[in-house]
Amino acid sequence: MRILSPAKINLHLRVGPPMDGFHPLLSWMCTVGLYDTMEVTATKEPGIRLQCDRPDVPVDETNLIVRAGQSLSRAHGAKVSLQKKIPIGGGLGGGSSNAAFALMGFNQLWNLNLPIDQLAAIGSQLGSDVPFFLHGPSSICAGRGERVTPIARPAAQYAVLFFPEFSMSTPAVYGRFDEMKLDSDVVIQHQPDWQAWSKLRATDLLKALINDLEAPAFSLCPQLGDLRLRLEQQLARTVRMSGSGSTLFTLTDQLGEAERIVTGSPIRAAICELAPARNDSASPSR
Ligand code: C5P
Repeated sequence: MRILSPAKINLHLRVGPPMDGFHPLLSWMCTVGLYDTMEVTATKEPGIRLQCDRPDVPVDETNLIVRAGQSLSRAHGAKVSLQKKIPIGGGLGGGSSNAAFALMGFNQLWNLNLPIDQLAAIGSQLGSDVPFFLHGPSSICAGRGERVTPIARPAAQYAVLFFPEFSMSTPAVYGRFDEMKLDSDVVIQHQPDWQAWSKLRATDLLKALINDLEAPAFSLCPQLGDLRLRLEQQLARTVRMSGSGSTLFTLTDQLGEAERIVTGSPIRAAICELAPARNDSASPSR
């Protein structure tokens, strides 16, 4: 079984006051056409044997793919070969995506036939973004990320992702968010008119989007804030951060526009389809 596991971006991310070590969120998340690949084969021996083409990715029980397998069944086994394309510490949800698509893959491989809601309940224990990836490709996520409501995909067709050479630590960014006393209850209670937003042209949508983690991320890493400013000036368009960073993005309606942005970018950039249909390429298939 070959499984494509997509990245996500947070188009809009509002963060509320912390409760029990976590921050309640309100986020519009979309998958993007940047994929890790998992080759999965059933084994007679129980347990997950994972290998990865990147030596800095752990393949032991700290890896969410292994934990996903263990959470689903201790009686079954699988060999997983993981090819990483999604940067680590990039705010693109790679680990959560791998966990979500592994859950769906093992569920199919081992003929467990668990419904998606049950997979989401297991997945929410593994990582905040796992329930989103079980639904995708364009959803509003609330709570810790476990309340997922699919919505219309944005009219904008492409995301251009900008990859800084450094990563960000999610707990450190949330920690700085708390230190800066940026939290407010109001921001996560106010639901924008998502339907209207989904119809906006890319440049108008970009102006409406907010990420509450930008201020703490740029405070921790001024280089990232400087880079965003430089990109905005050089490309003459709005650039936002995904999740807790470090990946930055902009959106376009046309492929040609996205190609011009990549050509003009001072750092490594890639064009990705925004919220690609899952049955195209991203669902588990034999
Ligand atoms: O769930 P995930 O592994 O992405 O979370 C990493 C860390 O980020 C958490 O342990 C927590 O410190 C912080 N976090 C948070 N509020 C969230 C999501 C993550 O405080 N909604």
